[in-house]
Amino acid sequence: LDNGLALKPPMGWMSWERFRCITDCKLYPDECISENLFRRHADLLVSEGYADVGYEYVIIDDCWLEKDRDNRTQKLVPDRKRFPNGLNTLADHIHDKGLKFGLYQDFGTNTCAGYPGVIKHMQLDAQTFADWDVDYVKLDGCYANLTDMVEGYPEFGRLLNETGRPMVYSCSWPAYQEDAGEIPDYESLKKHCNLWRNWDDIEDSLESLMQIIDYFGKNQDRIQPHGGPGHWNDPDMLLLGNYGLSYDQSKLQMAIWAIMAAPLIMSNDLAAVRPEIKAILQNRAVIAVDQDELGIQGRRILTRNLIEVWQRPITPVTKSGQHSYAVAFVSRRDDGAPYRIPFTVKDLGLNNPNGYQVQDLYANRKLGVYQTDAQFFTRVNPNGVTFYKFTAL
Ligand code: DGJ
Repeated sequence: LDNGLALKPPMGWMSWERFRCITDCKLYPDECISENLFRRHADLLVSEGYADVGYEYVIIDDCWLEKDRDNRTQKLVPDRKRFPNGLNTLADHIHDKGLKFGLYQDFGTNTCAGYPGVIKHMQLDAQTFADWDVDYVKLDGCYANLTDMVEGYPEFGRLLNETGRPMVYSCSWPAYQEDAGEIPDYESLKKHCNLWRNWDDIEDSLESLMQIIDYFGKNQDRIQPHGGPGHWNDPDMLLLGNYGLSYDQSKLQMAIWAIMAAPLIMSNDLAAVRPEIKAILQNRAVIAVDQDELGIQGRRILTRNLIEVWQRPITPVTKSGQHSYAVAFVSRRDDGAPYRIPFTVKDLGLNNPNGYQVQDLYANRKLGVYQTDAQFFTRVNPNGVTFYKFTAL
């Protein structure tokens, strides 16, 4: 969407994967979907150093609404108990921290969790979002007709735009189309949305993570070309800091999200992220790959002995037009020992005649210069990743 926004994949924090639809604030005061949760996470983004490395959007997902619209005005009403001061106060707090405010709604009659959707009130709701100082809108697609989405999502985007307030527009419509076996119209998505959810919701497990990675690998011919500045494919939230992923698997998700130029939207309890996981989330070299200014999405280029090679062209580009590359080796192996495997640089799809300076991004170590015929050895932990930058010389 050419609205000047999301020229790099958006970075931030969103409630859904970790906090779901917890609404009982008596039982779970620190976890329920409430003003408190989002204030606390805005504060933590800054105090824990996440804002410094680029995490910016604080996004409320489902379950923030009252079950009914305002009787008289038909406006959406945030849950009166859980958001007692309304959303402007929360937006002010988020903005005062130097962050941006995101809000969830649904194109259909109801959100997935059963709260009122926008369908019959699109103009009013777009204006209400602008009045609440929203900077980012995630529009889900439960309880809606697939056929209505083709025009309805662009229509809601147009109404957001007409408010005059710049709002990043995240669309879920292709995920619902895929689910029904339809192929999304990527040209329309690029034109009307800043990012879009391609497929299933991520869950807190390696299995779910690998299913998503496989979906993007298998369908890359039709998906990969459409990601770029202002219009990104979205494989869903980062799981890091939660229950399901080991240290190695956490590195794996972060590396592949960087290769895919994916939005880096965490969903975790930022007060409870262990230091070594926080270091992955805040790894500046890995984030720089994700945010590379060319915005070219990467691809899985080969698999050998259950080691997948994923590769993404990035800056710097030499005078003669040779790209540098981020290269991730993903192990699908579970046979115990770290697996050592050689590739020639050419095998990796890298053909610069002057060779590459290679850097290990997680170990933060320079490995020297490699020519295209040279053997490059890597050693990957089971269900883990190694991640390198090959800078063209
Ligand atoms: C489905 C979406 O894909 C999720 O990310 C989340 O927003 C839930 N709906 C909320 O109900």
